Amino acid sequence: GHVVVLAGGLSYEREVSLRSGRRVTEALRSRDIPVELRDADATLLDSLTDDPPDAVFPVLHGAAGEDGSIRDVLELLGIPYVGARPDACRVAWDKPTAKSVVRQAGLSTPDSVALPKEVFHDLGAASVLDHIVRGLGLPLFVKPTRGGSALGASVVHEAAELSAAMVGCFAYGDAALVERYIAGTEVSVSVIERDGVPTALPAVEIVAPSGLYDYTARYDAGDTEFITPARLTPEAAARATAAAVTAHRALGLRDLSRTDLIVDPDGDVHFLEVNVAPGMTETSLLPRAISVAGLDLGEVAQSLLLARL
Ligand code: DAL
Ligand code: MG
Repeated sequence: GHVVVLAGGLSYEREVSLRSGRRVTEALRSRDIPVELRDADATLLDSLTDDPPDAVFPVLHGAAGEDGSIRDVLELLGIPYVGARPDACRVAWDKPTAKSVVRQAGLSTPDSVALPKEVFHDLGAASVLDHIVRGLGLPLFVKPTRGGSALGASVVHEAAELSAAMVGCFAYGDAALVERYIAGTEVSVSVIERDGVPTALPAVEIVAPSGLYDYTARYDAGDTEFITPARLTPEAAARATAAAVTAHRALGLRDLSRTDLIVDPDGDVHFLEVNVAPGMTETSLLPRAISVAGLDLGEVAQSLLLARL
């Protein structure tokens, strides 16, 4: 038998996903696991049915990979895979929905409004912008309700910048999430399940050069400073790791996830989003957290695969 690492696809994060896929493939090969890196293209279904793998490790970022649809196909084919099930992905992938689920589970998350493009235009863009600024204040953070890698995301410091931010956002998605921007320490907490028990890895602090952890800051090695352990009080660090586990459980995720959080100057933790197919590139956060924890990416990936067989 063999396992398949599924990457690529047609989302905006295709290139990132291929990099993640190569990294996971190499890590598994280093454990002597027969592994094939497959692009999620039009030949995928035939190859999965002609030569079914024992299990799939999906490293597909963006739409099909994170919205549950590729995992629906794997369920249909009866092929085991690592990571959250389709229903849980659908909820986690839609940021406004994920925010309300984790809020009900007791986490704080910035106040926000989610606006589909049509509604934004139907209500009159200018007056909507006006009401958003009055309701949520400034600064604001604008991003597609469904997306990743900060594509279409920006910080808005002045009311006059909001309109351009919305346009930039709608280039990458049909709906915008406009959030109150909370200043503080940006941290990311990865969660790995062992024997069904989700365990948080150490929080990684992100210090982006321009203050915005954008696409370039994410994927150009050396652009961003990662600080581990994050510069937090022990209490705040504990709250951050607990929040990631709470989000993982509340959203019904499985195997692995990465939760992005802001820790404000009072040490209070605010949920931004969760990733069901976290980046695995050389500059990504989950592999970094794994090595900081003294673990090996290949060993972790192998154990997640074995748990599905
Ligand atoms: N969406 C990217 C891959 C991440 O969250 O790491
Ligand atoms: Mg994300």
